[in-house]
Amino acid sequence: MKNLAFLSMILFISVVLFSAFSDPSKKESKQKSLLDKKVDELLSQMTLNEKIGQMTQADIDALKGHYEDIEKYSLGSILCGGNSEIEDISAKGWADFYDMLQTHALNSRLHIPMIYGVDAVHGHNNVTNAVVFPHNVGLGATRNAKLIEKAARVTAEEVAATGMDWAFAPCIAVARNEHWGRTYESFGEDPELAKLLGAAQVKGFQGKKLSDKTSILACAKHFLGDGGTTTGKDQGNTEVDEPTLRKLHLPGYKTAIKAGTKTIMVSYNSWNGIRMHGNKYLLTDVLKGELNFNGILVSDWAAIDQLEGDYKSDIEKSINAGLDMIMIPNPPGKENNYIDFITLLKELVNENKVPISRIDDAVKRILRVKFEMNIFENPLTDRSLMATFGSKEHRQVARECVRQSLVLLKNENKTLPISKNVKNIVLAGKSADDIGNQCGGWTIDWQGKSGNVITGGTTVLQAVKNAVSKNTVVSYSKDGSEVKDADVVLVVVGETPYAEMFGDKPDLNLAKEDVDVIENVRKSGKPFVVVLFSGRPLIIEKQLKDANAFLAAWLPGSEGAGITDVLFGDFNFTGKLGHSWPKTNEQIPINVGDKNYDPLFKYSFGLKY
Ligand code: BGC
Ligand code: BGC
Repeated sequence: MKNLAFLSMILFISVVLFSAFSDPSKKESKQKSLLDKKVDELLSQMTLNEKIGQMTQADIDALKGHYEDIEKYSLGSILCGGNSEIEDISAKGWADFYDMLQTHALNSRLHIPMIYGVDAVHGHNNVTNAVVFPHNVGLGATRNAKLIEKAARVTAEEVAATGMDWAFAPCIAVARNEHWGRTYESFGEDPELAKLLGAAQVKGFQGKKLSDKTSILACAKHFLGDGGTTTGKDQGNTEVDEPTLRKLHLPGYKTAIKAGTKTIMVSYNSWNGIRMHGNKYLLTDVLKGELNFNGILVSDWAAIDQLEGDYKSDIEKSINAGLDMIMIPNPPGKENNYIDFITLLKELVNENKVPISRIDDAVKRILRVKFEMNIFENPLTDRSLMATFGSKEHRQVARECVRQSLVLLKNENKTLPISKNVKNIVLAGKSADDIGNQCGGWTIDWQGKSGNVITGGTTVLQAVKNAVSKNTVVSYSKDGSEVKDADVVLVVVGETPYAEMFGDKPDLNLAKEDVDVIENVRKSGKPFVVVLFSGRPLIIEKQLKDANAFLAAWLPGSEGAGITDVLFGDFNFTGKLGHSWPKTNEQIPINVGDKNYDPLFKYSFGLKY
């Protein structure tokens, strides 16, 4: 009897033990509580100053000459803004710089590593010779979540190779008005695209496990309604009722959170007149409550400064609204700098205007992410990752993205595909041999830059030369005046680089220069194909009529060979419009589902061979 009782007890214990270790949900919750314990332990050792330091994200330009402030204030994060630069912008230069900053962070009293964020929005685009992917407007046209995840994986590997921890991407804005200068950062006008493709980018960046060497933090942005502002004004006012706001702009956040995004950036825009950075209902009740987001909520660049009142009240409002970390571009000596932020937030806590529970919640979120990344164990750059930086394999993935992003709008009399044995092909237009125009904004510089100097890659002209037979004569007539020997002319025109508010434009007609080139070629009577580089649909009705074939190539990035892959028929077109293509400026905004919907091309349009 005794023996039997003993045996059944053993059996009972082993069943309990077995289920505790084999049940994945139990294992997970055990890991979670271990993590929470580590976080609580560290938090309990922190002074108020150190806690607030963790909530501070300073720009590298602001820190120039003040690097010791990193350890002095125990700064939690550092970013590199679009125009913030160091001398050596090669991958090695950035990695050395990163390690210098991180060493300062490790010198702080509690040795808490900082996390470094960067706008790697189409590849690691601040670094020379990184692979530059198509901007999201092009990726949206691929409709290919698997491919986009793969592309984000490549970006993560290149970001990690420079030590950096965090990409301010994906931008899951739903761009509803093409006059908006950030339309190209959005996958398209329908929330379905943000839902599907934003989550894919999150997975690609963060990898299988956040602690893996090549995993970086994703940042879904900009919460909420950035793409819905009236007249498409950047940082403007999104005037819609709550059901519409939720229907159009929230779905991408739901899937990004489900995919595990560890950070979300708040938007500059207002919703019905109230700035997002002060909107406690949306930031805390909806995002952190209803959607159960438990990662880091970071501000946009000096965005809290735009709230009403002085800097102290900006800080009070935004932290109480639910922001965990504030992005601060100003150096000491200038107003609203990171030292002001720390001083004022401390005052607010001591005056009981910001509860210490709110501070603790923010810092716990930040520390939890840091532990999950395993950055305490591996704070410095792993130089072995440099081997694949800008590699052929990485470029191949970008080339595939380009190929699948192209949308064929017209192809009369089978002008396309062009035979590789064509005798004479002439390229025309300002963008046929211009990596800068091909990449667009957020490439090396915040605004991007025309020209071939900015970074490595293949222009359309180079790609054509590589693709055709050795007997084919290839020439370039920029203004399209010398095409008399051509069997076919490829005219490559479109927008020149811009970013953010600098791209807000009421007039989306093709530039006069581009119209003139097309006109020159048309007058020659030669068959011609227009390749349009643009961050959005432009007004093209006349040029579309005149051209024999027309394709939207968006802002394809560094791999021009993706275009020739399709032009010469090695691959078919698969891209579909992520935007309804307007006939006129006046027709904008025009979006799928509108009443009296009559665009030039419907949402999802795209021809094939
Ligand atoms: C942009 C963000 C960007 C941040 C940092 C802001 O102006 O709105 O998208 O991540 O700057 O460069
Ligand atoms: C920064 C960008 C930022 C922008 C916002 C620029 O100076 O470099 O990162 O997005 O300002 O206004």
